[in-house]
Amino acid sequence: MLSDAVAALRCPLCQGALQLREQPQRTLACGSGHLFDSAKQGYFNLLTGKGTVFEADTADMVAARCRFLDAGHYAALAAAVAEEAAGALRLPGAVVLDAGTGTGHYLHAVIEESGAAGIGLDISKFALRRAARLNPQAANLVWDIWRPLPVADNSVDVVMVVFAPRNPAEFARVIRPGGKLIVVTPRPGHLAEVAARTGMLGIEDGKEERLAETIKGYFTPAGVLGLDVPLELTGPQMGDLAFMGPAGHHLRDQGQAGEPTGSVATTARFRISVFTAS
Ligand SMILES: C[S@@+](CC[C@H](N)C(=O)[O-])C[C@H]1O[C@@H](n2cnc3c(N)ncnc32)[C@H](O)[C@@H]1O
Ligand SMILES: [Zn+2]
Repeated sequence: MLSDAVAALRCPLCQGALQLREQPQRTLACGSGHLFDSAKQGYFNLLTGKGTVFEADTADMVAARCRFLDAGHYAALAAAVAEEAAGALRLPGAVVLDAGTGTGHYLHAVIEESGAAGIGLDISKFALRRAARLNPQAANLVWDIWRPLPVADNSVDVVMVVFAPRNPAEFARVIRPGGKLIVVTPRPGHLAEVAARTGMLGIEDGKEERLAETIKGYFTPAGVLGLDVPLELTGPQMGDLAFMGPAGHHLRDQGQAGEPTGSVATTARFRISVFTAS
């Protein structure tokens, strides 16, 4: 329910509780008079003041991600994340926060499975337009994950992060004792055949291990699941896959967003890491 999600939010300017007003327009308002109007697509922009140094995904990158995810190639991942999250979302009023929600694809699967209230954060307005359409019952917020989150202490049951930046200190602050952090990352060899043909960025050596170490300072590891998804992809599908991720910025800058031809057999290799709040 949206009201449960809003109850977990805090004003980014004064940390006061936020309330949802519907009149004269849909607005999140705190007791000190800070107002955040809903965009017409239904998301809220909580990022005020100076812009961020991060490059948000563009409308084209978001459209590519939608085409690819809507085709169901990663359905097995969505199902696995939803099942993992559901265990910690059984109580009435449970809240799940999706950091870097993108088009809201994985948050949708979790909400459908658990019935929990959802908060989706992303820095890209283009992504949130889609997310707000897919998950109208969630609070979809423009926010930068590297800043203090506009969320109360100990107020969410699950934080999920699927191929998006992680801010372990803030995740630890907002997750309730006994809550879960679910992180999806690529394993070595993830889509190697596509990377070789499209200029998609490879996985930086040791990067994931370093990130896992930073998370362990705040959380207790509670299990790691490997998930391999074999894929047969056409040229346009490969193009979408390359363009929808971080490489999309580089491919666009280099004018290399042209579609590869032919088809390829490849495997998506995911790692689902689960942590409990310690
Ligand atoms: C590779 S996409 C993954 C999106 C979604 N979780 C999915 O798997 O479909 C990474 C997402 O993180 C968002 N993002 C990148 N940096 C961010 C930041 N500092 N704060 C919030 N969102 C960010 C991007 O806009 C993008 O939607
Ligand atoms: Zn305020």
